[in-house]
Amino acid sequence: MANITNEFMGHDMLAPFTAGWQSDMEPLVIEKSEGSYVYDINGKKYLDTLSGLWCTTLGGSETRLVEAANKQLNTLPFYHSFWNRTTKPSLDLAKELLNMFTANKMAKVFFTNSGSEANDTQVKLVWYYNNALGRPQKKKIIARAKAYHGSTYISAGLSGLPPMHQKFDLPPPFVLHTECPHYWAYHLPGETEEEFSTRLANNLESLILNEGPETVAAFIAEPVLGAAGVILPPATYFDKVQAILRKHDILFIADEVVCGFGRLGTMFGSDKYNIKPDLVSVAKALSSGYMPIAAVLVSQKISSVILSESNKIGAFCHGFTYSGHPVACAVALEALKIYKERNITEVVNKISQKFQEGLKAFADSPIIGEIRGTGLALSTEFVNNKSPNDPFPYEWAVGTYFGAQCAKYGMLVSSTGDHVNMAPPFTLSLEELDELIRIYGKALKDTEKRVEELKSQKK
Ligand SMILES: Cc1ncc(COP(=O)(O)O)c(C=O)c1O
Repeated sequence: MANITNEFMGHDMLAPFTAGWQSDMEPLVIEKSEGSYVYDINGKKYLDTLSGLWCTTLGGSETRLVEAANKQLNTLPFYHSFWNRTTKPSLDLAKELLNMFTANKMAKVFFTNSGSEANDTQVKLVWYYNNALGRPQKKKIIARAKAYHGSTYISAGLSGLPPMHQKFDLPPPFVLHTECPHYWAYHLPGETEEEFSTRLANNLESLILNEGPETVAAFIAEPVLGAAGVILPPATYFDKVQAILRKHDILFIADEVVCGFGRLGTMFGSDKYNIKPDLVSVAKALSSGYMPIAAVLVSQKISSVILSESNKIGAFCHGFTYSGHPVACAVALEALKIYKERNITEVVNKISQKFQEGLKAFADSPIIGEIRGTGLALSTEFVNNKSPNDPFPYEWAVGTYFGAQCAKYGMLVSSTGDHVNMAPPFTLSLEELDELIRIYGKALKDTEKRVEELKSQKK
Protein backbone atom coordinates (compact mmCIF):
# COMPACT_ATOMS: atom_id res chain seq x y z
CA MET A 1 0.00 0.00 0.00
CA ALA A 2 2.67 2.46 -1.02
CA ASN A 3 0.54 4.70 -3.21
CA ILE A 4 -3.04 5.79 -3.55
CA THR A 5 -4.79 7.29 -6.51
CA ASN A 6 -5.14 10.97 -5.92
CA GLU A 7 -7.55 12.14 -8.57
CA PHE A 8 -10.18 13.25 -6.06
CA MET A 9 -7.69 15.77 -4.71
CA GLY A 10 -7.51 17.43 -8.09
CA HIS A 11 -4.28 15.77 -9.15
CA ASP A 12 -4.04 13.31 -11.98
CA MET A 13 -0.96 11.76 -10.46
CA LEU A 14 -0.23 9.20 -7.82
CA ALA A 15 0.37 10.80 -4.46
CA PRO A 16 2.36 9.02 -1.79
CA PHE A 17 0.31 7.68 1.09
CA THR A 18 2.31 9.68 3.59
CA ALA A 19 2.54 9.98 7.34
CA GLY A 20 -0.03 12.45 8.58
CA TRP A 21 -1.81 12.21 5.24
CA GLN A 22 -5.25 13.81 5.17
CA SER A 23 -7.62 13.23 2.28
CA ASP A 24 -9.06 16.75 2.41
CA MET A 25 -5.74 18.58 2.13
CA GLU A 26 -3.93 19.65 -1.00
CA PRO A 27 -0.34 18.43 -0.93
CA LEU A 28 2.45 20.99 -1.09
CA VAL A 29 4.66 19.73 -3.88
CA ILE A 30 8.31 20.69 -3.46
CA GLU A 31 10.35 20.80 -6.62
CA LYS A 32 13.84 22.07 -5.86
CA SER A 33 16.11 23.27 -3.09
CA GLU A 34 18.80 25.88 -2.78
CA GLY A 35 20.78 26.47 0.43
CA SER A 36 18.32 26.98 3.27
CA TYR A 37 15.33 27.31 0.89
CA VAL A 38 12.98 25.01 -1.01
CA TYR A 39 10.66 25.89 -3.91
CA ASP A 40 7.25 24.46 -4.72
CA ILE A 41 6.01 23.57 -8.22
CA ASN A 42 4.55 27.06 -8.59
CA GLY A 43 7.95 28.63 -7.98
CA LYS A 44 7.11 29.87 -4.46
CA LYS A 45 10.19 30.04 -2.24
CA TYR A 46 10.17 28.91 1.40
CA LEU A 47 12.75 29.13 4.14
CA ASP A 48 12.96 25.49 5.21
CA THR A 49 13.15 25.70 9.00
CA LEU A 50 12.90 21.95 9.54
CA SER A 51 15.78 20.94 7.21
CA GLY A 52 13.31 18.78 5.30
CA LEU A 53 12.60 16.44 8.19
CA TRP A 54 15.53 17.27 10.52
CA CYS A 55 17.88 16.01 7.78
CA THR A 56 19.45 18.53 5.42
CA THR A 57 21.97 19.99 7.83
CA LEU A 58 24.18 21.11 4.95
CA GLY A 59 21.33 22.82 3.11
CA GLY A 60 19.68 21.85 -0.13
CA SER A 61 22.48 22.40 -2.64
CA GLU A 62 25.77 21.04 -1.27
CA THR A 63 27.60 20.17 -4.48
CA ARG A 64 30.24 18.09 -2.72
CA LEU A 65 27.56 15.58 -1.68
CA VAL A 66 26.21 15.44 -5.22
CA GLU A 67 29.73 14.89 -6.59
CA ALA A 68 30.40 12.15 -4.03
CA ALA A 69 27.23 10.38 -5.17
CA ASN A 70 28.09 10.78 -8.85
CA LYS A 71 31.60 9.49 -8.38
CA GLN A 72 30.37 6.41 -6.54
CA LEU A 73 27.57 5.82 -9.05
CA ASN A 74 30.17 5.82 -11.80
CA THR A 75 32.45 3.43 -9.92
CA LEU A 76 30.23 0.96 -8.12
CA PRO A 77 26.55 1.90 -7.99
CA PHE A 78 25.63 -1.11 -5.88
CA TYR A 79 27.05 -3.98 -4.00
CA HIS A 80 25.70 -5.65 -0.89
CA SER A 81 27.09 -6.50 2.52
CA PHE A 82 25.98 -10.14 2.84
CA TRP A 83 28.12 -13.30 3.32
CA ASN A 84 31.22 -11.42 4.40
CA ARG A 85 31.23 -9.26 1.30
CA THR A 86 31.08 -5.51 1.50
CA THR A 87 32.37 -2.32 -0.13
CA LYS A 88 35.10 0.20 0.63
CA PRO A 89 32.74 3.16 1.31
CA SER A 90 30.84 1.02 3.79
CA LEU A 91 34.04 -0.01 5.61
CA ASP A 92 35.38 3.55 5.62
CA LEU A 93 32.13 4.97 6.93
CA ALA A 94 31.95 2.39 9.72
CA LYS A 95 35.50 3.29 10.76
CA GLU A 96 34.73 7.01 10.69
CA LEU A 97 31.60 6.58 12.81
CA LEU A 98 33.51 4.55 15.40
CA ASN A 99 36.10 7.34 15.61
CA MET A 100 33.50 10.07 15.86
CA PHE A 101 31.34 8.63 18.60
CA THR A 102 33.36 9.06 21.78
CA ALA A 103 30.76 9.22 24.58
CA ASN A 104 31.28 5.47 25.02
CA LYS A 105 33.59 3.39 22.89
CA MET A 106 31.74 1.54 20.14
CA ALA A 107 33.13 -1.51 18.33
CA LYS A 108 30.88 -2.40 15.39
CA VAL A 109 28.54 -0.66 12.96
CA PHE A 110 25.50 -2.11 11.22
CA PHE A 111 23.97 -0.06 8.39
CA THR A 112 20.26 0.29 7.70
CA ASN A 113 18.26 2.54 5.39
CA SER A 114 16.25 4.39 8.01
CA GLY A 115 16.08 5.30 11.66
CA SER A 116 13.13 2.94 12.08
CA GLU A 117 15.13 -0.01 10.75
CA ALA A 118 18.00 1.02 13.02
CA ASN A 119 15.77 0.90 16.10
CA ASP A 120 14.20 -2.39 14.99
CA THR A 121 17.71 -3.75 14.64
CA GLN A 122 18.57 -2.53 18.15
CA VAL A 123 15.78 -4.58 19.67
CA LYS A 124 16.76 -7.68 17.69
CA LEU A 125 20.39 -7.26 18.78
CA VAL A 126 19.38 -6.91 22.41
CA TRP A 127 17.26 -10.08 22.23
CA TYR A 128 20.01 -12.00 20.44
CA TYR A 129 22.49 -10.84 23.07
CA ASN A 130 20.33 -11.97 25.98
CA ASN A 131 19.54 -15.29 24.32
CA ALA A 132 23.25 -15.83 23.78
CA LEU A 133 23.87 -15.10 27.46
CA GLY A 134 21.27 -17.69 28.45
CA ARG A 135 18.73 -15.14 29.72
CA PRO A 136 15.80 -15.74 27.37
CA GLN A 137 13.36 -14.03 29.75
CA LYS A 138 15.25 -10.68 29.69
CA LYS A 139 13.45 -9.17 26.70
CA LYS A 140 11.29 -6.19 27.65
CA ILE A 141 12.20 -2.76 26.36
CA ILE A 142 11.36 0.44 28.25
CA ALA A 143 10.70 3.54 26.16
CA ARG A 144 9.19 6.86 27.16
CA ALA A 145 5.81 8.49 26.69
CA LYS A 146 5.88 10.97 23.77
CA ALA A 147 9.07 9.46 22.29
CA TYR A 148 9.35 9.00 18.52
CA HIS A 149 11.45 6.06 17.39
CA GLY A 150 10.04 5.33 13.92
CA SER A 151 7.24 3.66 12.03
CA THR A 152 8.02 -0.04 11.64
CA TYR A 153 6.23 -2.51 13.92
CA ILE A 154 8.86 -2.43 16.64
CA SER A 155 9.92 1.22 16.36
CA ALA A 156 6.31 2.46 16.28
CA GLY A 157 5.67 0.26 19.31
CA LEU A 158 8.63 1.89 21.09
CA SER A 159 7.27 5.31 20.21
CA GLY A 160 5.15 6.80 22.97
CA LEU A 161 2.64 8.68 20.83
CA PRO A 162 -0.89 7.20 21.15
CA PRO A 163 -1.96 8.03 17.54
CA MET A 164 0.87 5.79 16.35
CA HIS A 165 -0.60 2.89 18.26
CA GLN A 166 -4.32 3.34 17.63
CA LYS A 167 -5.73 0.77 15.17
CA PHE A 168 -2.29 -0.77 14.65
CA ASP A 169 -2.48 -3.21 17.60
CA LEU A 170 0.45 -1.44 19.20
CA PRO A 171 2.43 -1.29 21.40
CA PRO A 172 3.45 -4.95 21.49
CA PRO A 173 3.52 -6.62 24.92
CA PHE A 174 7.30 -6.49 25.24
CA VAL A 175 7.31 -2.67 25.20
CA LEU A 176 6.76 -0.69 28.41
CA HIS A 177 6.49 3.07 28.61
CA THR A 178 7.75 5.25 31.42
CA GLU A 179 7.06 8.95 31.90
CA CYS A 180 8.02 11.76 29.57
CA PRO A 181 10.60 13.98 31.30
CA HIS A 182 8.96 17.27 30.37
CA TYR A 183 9.49 19.49 33.39
CA TRP A 184 7.22 22.38 32.31
CA ALA A 185 4.31 20.06 31.56
CA TYR A 186 4.54 17.55 34.38
CA HIS A 187 6.35 18.94 37.44
CA LEU A 188 4.43 19.18 40.69
CA PRO A 189 3.89 22.57 42.35
CA GLY A 190 7.15 23.65 43.99
CA GLU A 191 9.12 20.71 42.59
CA THR A 192 12.61 21.61 41.30
CA GLU A 193 14.04 20.11 38.11
CA GLU A 194 16.30 17.84 40.15
CA GLU A 195 13.43 16.69 42.35
CA PHE A 196 11.38 16.04 39.23
CA SER A 197 14.23 13.93 37.81
CA THR A 198 14.49 12.01 41.08
CA ARG A 199 10.75 11.29 41.04
CA LEU A 200 10.88 10.05 37.44
CA ALA A 201 13.95 7.92 38.12
CA ASN A 202 12.24 6.40 41.18
CA ASN A 203 9.15 5.66 39.09
CA LEU A 204 11.36 4.04 36.44
CA GLU A 205 12.91 1.85 39.11
CA SER A 206 9.47 0.90 40.46
CA LEU A 207 8.42 -0.13 36.95
CA ILE A 208 11.55 -2.28 36.60
CA LEU A 209 11.03 -3.89 40.01
CA ASN A 210 7.35 -4.55 39.34
CA GLU A 211 8.13 -6.22 36.03
CA GLY A 212 11.15 -8.02 37.48
CA PRO A 213 14.63 -6.75 36.45
CA GLU A 214 15.36 -10.21 35.03
CA THR A 215 12.71 -9.51 32.35
CA VAL A 216 13.86 -6.01 31.34
CA ALA A 217 16.52 -5.88 28.63
CA ALA A 218 16.94 -2.28 27.55
CA PHE A 219 15.88 1.34 27.86
CA ILE A 220 15.68 3.51 24.73
CA ALA A 221 15.76 7.31 24.74
CA GLU A 222 16.35 10.28 22.49
CA PRO A 223 18.79 12.60 24.35
CA VAL A 224 16.38 15.41 23.45
CA LEU A 225 12.90 14.28 22.40
CA GLY A 226 12.61 15.69 18.89
CA ALA A 227 9.27 15.06 17.21
CA ALA A 228 7.47 15.32 20.58
CA GLY A 229 8.46 18.98 20.63
CA VAL A 230 12.16 19.39 21.50
CA ILE A 231 11.81 18.27 25.10
CA LEU A 232 15.10 18.71 26.96
CA PRO A 233 16.02 16.39 29.82
CA PRO A 234 15.65 18.09 33.21
CA ALA A 235 18.80 18.57 35.31
CA THR A 236 20.38 15.29 36.50
CA TYR A 237 17.76 13.16 34.67
CA PHE A 238 20.11 11.01 32.61
CA ASP A 239 22.60 10.60 35.52
CA LYS A 240 19.82 9.21 37.68
CA VAL A 241 18.32 7.04 34.96
CA GLN A 242 21.69 5.56 34.02
CA ALA A 243 22.49 4.70 37.65
CA ILE A 244 19.26 2.68 37.84
CA LEU A 245 19.84 0.93 34.53
CA ARG A 246 23.35 -0.08 35.59
CA LYS A 247 22.04 -1.38 38.93
CA HIS A 248 19.60 -3.70 37.13
CA ASP A 249 21.88 -4.68 34.22
CA ILE A 250 19.68 -2.98 31.64
CA LEU A 251 21.19 -1.73 28.38
CA PHE A 252 20.91 1.90 27.22
CA ILE A 253 20.00 2.50 23.56
CA ALA A 254 20.60 6.13 22.58
CA ASP A 255 18.37 7.16 19.69
CA GLU A 256 20.54 9.89 18.15
CA VAL A 257 18.56 9.99 14.89
CA VAL A 258 17.67 13.66 15.42
CA CYS A 259 20.36 14.75 17.90
CA GLY A 260 23.39 13.28 16.13
CA PHE A 261 25.96 15.27 14.14
CA GLY A 262 25.81 18.69 15.71
CA ARG A 263 22.10 19.53 15.98
CA LEU A 264 22.36 20.32 19.71
CA GLY A 265 25.72 22.10 19.45
CA THR A 266 27.66 18.98 20.42
CA MET A 267 28.55 16.23 17.97
CA PHE A 268 26.06 13.88 19.66
CA GLY A 269 23.33 14.31 22.25
CA SER A 270 25.15 11.71 24.36
CA ASP A 271 28.11 14.13 24.61
CA LYS A 272 25.85 16.91 25.83
CA TYR A 273 24.11 14.91 28.55
CA ASN A 274 26.92 12.57 29.58
CA ILE A 275 25.10 9.48 28.32
CA LYS A 276 27.20 6.33 28.01
CA PRO A 277 25.05 4.16 25.77
CA ASP A 278 25.61 0.50 24.93
CA LEU A 279 23.97 0.94 21.53
CA VAL A 280 23.39 4.02 19.36
CA SER A 281 21.10 4.74 16.38
CA VAL A 282 22.06 7.47 13.91
CA ALA A 283 20.41 8.60 10.65
CA LYS A 284 19.16 11.83 9.03
CA ALA A 285 22.18 14.21 9.28
CA LEU A 286 24.47 11.22 8.68
CA SER A 287 24.11 11.96 4.95
CA SER A 288 22.56 15.41 5.40
CA GLY A 289 19.48 13.57 4.14
CA TYR A 290 20.88 13.35 0.60
CA MET A 291 20.71 9.54 0.62
CA PRO A 292 18.66 7.23 2.83
CA ILE A 293 21.07 5.75 5.33
CA ALA A 294 21.15 5.03 9.05
CA ALA A 295 23.42 3.08 11.34
CA VAL A 296 23.51 1.11 14.55
CA LEU A 297 26.65 1.47 16.66
CA VAL A 298 27.33 -1.47 18.95
CA SER A 299 29.67 -1.55 21.94
CA GLN A 300 32.29 -4.27 22.41
CA LYS A 301 30.39 -5.80 25.34
CA ILE A 302 27.48 -6.63 23.04
CA SER A 303 29.21 -7.22 19.73
CA SER A 304 31.62 -9.79 21.15
CA VAL A 305 28.71 -11.85 22.57
CA ILE A 306 26.80 -11.61 19.28
CA LEU A 307 29.83 -12.56 17.21
CA SER A 308 30.70 -15.58 19.29
CA GLU A 309 27.06 -16.77 19.26
CA SER A 310 26.84 -16.30 15.47
CA ASN A 311 30.02 -18.30 15.04
CA LYS A 312 28.48 -21.04 17.18
CA ILE A 313 25.21 -21.23 15.26
CA GLY A 314 26.73 -20.53 11.87
CA ALA A 315 25.44 -17.08 10.89
CA PHE A 316 24.11 -13.74 12.05
CA CYS A 317 20.94 -13.68 10.00
CA HIS A 318 19.92 -10.05 9.92
CA GLY A 319 20.46 -7.62 7.06
CA PHE A 320 18.85 -5.59 4.31
CA THR A 321 19.62 -5.60 0.60
CA TYR A 322 20.63 -1.96 0.81
CA SER A 323 22.54 -2.14 4.14
CA GLY A 324 25.72 -0.17 3.57
CA HIS A 325 24.67 0.91 0.08
CA PRO A 326 27.93 2.22 -1.44
CA VAL A 327 26.41 5.43 -2.84
CA ALA A 328 24.71 6.28 0.45
CA CYS A 329 27.95 5.48 2.33
CA ALA A 330 30.02 7.64 -0.04
CA VAL A 331 27.66 10.58 0.47
CA ALA A 332 27.64 10.09 4.24
CA LEU A 333 31.44 9.92 4.31
CA GLU A 334 31.59 13.23 2.47
CA ALA A 335 29.05 14.77 4.87
CA LEU A 336 31.13 13.68 7.86
CA LYS A 337 34.24 15.11 6.17
CA ILE A 338 32.47 18.45 5.73
CA TYR A 339 31.30 18.45 9.37
CA LYS A 340 34.90 18.02 10.45
CA GLU A 341 36.41 20.56 8.03
CA ARG A 342 33.85 23.22 8.92
CA ASN A 343 33.93 22.41 12.62
CA ILE A 344 30.21 21.96 12.51
CA THR A 345 29.52 22.18 16.25
CA GLU A 346 31.17 25.60 16.27
CA VAL A 347 29.03 26.65 13.30
CA VAL A 348 25.89 25.57 15.18
CA ASN A 349 26.98 27.22 18.41
CA LYS A 350 27.74 30.49 16.63
CA ILE A 351 24.23 30.87 15.25
CA SER A 352 22.18 28.98 17.83
CA GLN A 353 22.36 31.63 20.54
CA LYS A 354 20.70 34.20 18.31
CA PHE A 355 18.25 31.56 17.06
CA GLN A 356 17.24 30.57 20.58
CA GLU A 357 17.18 34.08 22.05
CA GLY A 358 15.49 35.65 19.01
CA LEU A 359 12.59 33.21 19.19
CA LYS A 360 12.35 32.87 22.97
CA ALA A 361 11.77 36.65 23.04
CA PHE A 362 8.21 35.81 21.89
CA ALA A 363 7.56 33.64 24.96
CA ASP A 364 5.41 36.34 26.61
CA SER A 365 2.73 35.93 23.94
CA PRO A 366 -0.59 35.13 25.66
CA ILE A 367 -1.08 32.08 23.44
CA ILE A 368 2.36 30.53 24.07
CA GLY A 369 2.96 28.20 27.00
CA GLU A 370 6.61 27.42 26.42
CA ILE A 371 9.31 28.02 23.84
CA ARG A 372 12.07 25.51 24.45
CA GLY A 373 15.13 24.33 22.66
CA THR A 374 18.87 24.05 22.43
CA GLY A 375 21.33 24.30 19.56
CA LEU A 376 19.43 24.49 16.29
CA ALA A 377 16.28 22.77 17.55
CA LEU A 378 13.34 24.65 19.02
CA SER A 379 9.68 24.08 19.72
CA THR A 380 6.82 26.43 20.49
CA GLU A 381 3.84 25.14 22.43
CA PHE A 382 0.56 26.99 22.08
CA VAL A 383 -1.76 26.77 25.09
CA ASN A 384 -4.54 28.74 26.69
CA ASN A 385 -3.75 30.84 29.77
CA LYS A 386 -0.06 29.87 29.57
CA SER A 387 -0.89 26.59 31.28
CA PRO A 388 0.21 23.09 30.21
CA ASN A 389 -3.14 21.87 31.56
CA ASP A 390 -5.27 24.18 29.43
CA PRO A 391 -4.93 23.25 25.73
CA PHE A 392 -6.83 25.13 23.07
CA PRO A 393 -9.86 23.26 21.67
CA TYR A 394 -8.56 20.71 19.17
CA GLU A 395 -10.81 22.05 16.39
CA TRP A 396 -9.22 25.50 16.65
CA ALA A 397 -6.03 23.93 15.22
CA VAL A 398 -3.91 26.79 16.56
CA GLY A 399 -0.55 25.22 15.67
CA THR A 400 -1.77 24.36 12.19
CA TYR A 401 -2.99 27.91 11.66
CA PHE A 402 0.40 29.28 12.74
CA GLY A 403 2.11 26.86 10.31
CA ALA A 404 -0.18 27.96 7.49
CA GLN A 405 0.56 31.63 8.16
CA CYS A 406 4.30 30.88 8.12
CA ALA A 407 3.86 29.12 4.76
CA LYS A 408 1.90 32.09 3.42
CA TYR A 409 4.85 34.35 4.30
CA GLY A 410 7.37 31.91 2.74
CA MET A 411 8.54 29.72 5.60
CA LEU A 412 7.96 26.04 6.39
CA VAL A 413 7.71 24.77 9.97
CA SER A 414 6.34 21.50 11.28
CA SER A 415 3.15 21.83 13.25
CA THR A 416 1.84 18.78 15.04
CA GLY A 417 -1.14 19.52 17.22
CA ASP A 418 -0.34 22.73 19.04
CA HIS A 419 3.41 22.49 19.03
CA VAL A 420 5.56 23.78 16.24
CA ASN A 421 9.07 22.48 15.66
CA MET A 422 11.99 24.17 13.97
CA ALA A 423 15.40 22.65 13.22
CA PRO A 424 16.96 24.73 10.45
CA PRO A 425 19.93 23.72 8.33
CA PHE A 426 23.38 24.59 9.69
CA THR A 427 23.91 26.70 6.57
CA LEU A 428 21.44 29.28 7.89
CA SER A 429 23.01 32.74 7.51
CA LEU A 430 22.43 35.62 9.93
CA GLU A 431 20.26 37.34 7.30
CA GLU A 432 18.18 34.18 6.87
CA LEU A 433 17.87 33.94 10.64
CA ASP A 434 16.56 37.52 10.75
CA GLU A 435 14.01 36.54 8.10
CA LEU A 436 13.03 33.46 10.13
CA ILE A 437 12.45 35.51 13.28
CA ARG A 438 10.56 38.19 11.35
CA ILE A 439 8.17 35.69 9.72
CA TYR A 440 7.68 33.87 13.03
CA GLY A 441 6.67 37.21 14.63
CA LYS A 442 4.21 38.02 11.85
CA ALA A 443 2.63 34.56 11.92
CA LEU A 444 2.38 34.76 15.71
CA LYS A 445 0.56 38.09 15.56
CA ASP A 446 -1.93 36.63 13.07
CA THR A 447 -2.41 33.58 15.30
CA GLU A 448 -2.99 35.72 18.40
CA LYS A 449 -5.65 37.63 16.46
CA ARG A 450 -7.26 34.41 15.28
CA VAL A 451 -7.41 33.04 18.83
CA GLU A 452 -9.00 36.30 20.02
CA GLU A 453 -11.66 35.95 17.30
CA LEU A 454 -12.35 32.33 18.18
CA LYS A 455 -12.63 33.20 21.86
CA SER A 456 -15.11 36.01 21.20
CA GLN A 457 -17.20 33.73 18.93
CA LYS A 458 -17.37 31.24 21.80
CA LYS A 459 -18.73 33.84 24.26
C1 LIG B 1 14.41 10.11 17.12
C2 LIG B 1 13.97 9.38 15.90
N1 LIG B 1 14.19 8.07 15.81
C3 LIG B 1 13.82 7.37 14.73
C4 LIG B 1 13.21 7.98 13.67
C5 LIG B 1 12.78 7.16 12.48
O1 LIG B 1 13.59 7.43 11.41
P1 LIG B 1 13.08 7.11 9.91
O2 LIG B 1 11.97 8.04 9.62
O3 LIG B 1 14.33 7.35 9.10
O4 LIG B 1 12.68 5.70 9.88
C6 LIG B 1 12.98 9.36 13.71
C7 LIG B 1 12.34 10.04 12.58
O5 LIG B 1 11.99 11.19 12.62
C8 LIG B 1 13.36 10.08 14.87
O6 LIG B 1 13.11 11.39 14.97
